[in-house]
Amino acid sequence: MSESELQAYTLKELSNYDGNHGTSPALLLGLNGKVYDVSSGANFYGPGKAYNVLAGRDSTRALAKASLKAEDIPGPDDDPVDAMGLSESELETLKGWEQRLAAKYAVCGRLVSQ
Ligand code: HEM
Repeated sequence: MSESELQAYTLKELSNYDGNHGTSPALLLGLNGKVYDVSSGANFYGPGKAYNVLAGRDSTRALAKASLKAEDIPGPDDDPVDAMGLSESELETLKGWEQRLAAKYAVCGRLVSQ
């Protein structure tokens, strides 16, 4: 499947997939322009779990900076994170997360601006 055939999600649409809205798939995670179906990682991302703040969100800046602070997690009305704004070392960290998540979860979409 080519990139442009992937379903497009704004951060507002993505925000429904945080495990609290009865969606199918249950849990999606945005990372560097892509959307991963992380439903099988409900023990990490599900409601009440350690990384639920990342579910239904663009996790790019949070994972690149190893930060779970609200300021590093864009909200439903924001645009996706542009990785160009990250430092060299943050980009390295981001690459590691992309490899880890791509090995574990299917890409089911792409992030687009509102
Ligand atoms: C004291 C700090 C931390 C500890 C001890 C810790 C520990 C862990 C452990 C044990 C796992 C499970 C690994 C596995 O079974 O595969 C995990 C997963 C994860 N951690 Fe952390 N973590 C910490 C901080 C963070 C931070 C700051 C972030 C992000 C900003 C983060 C993001 C994640 C994510 C996204 C997963 C799930 C990855 C997946 O879907 O496989 N962690 N963490």
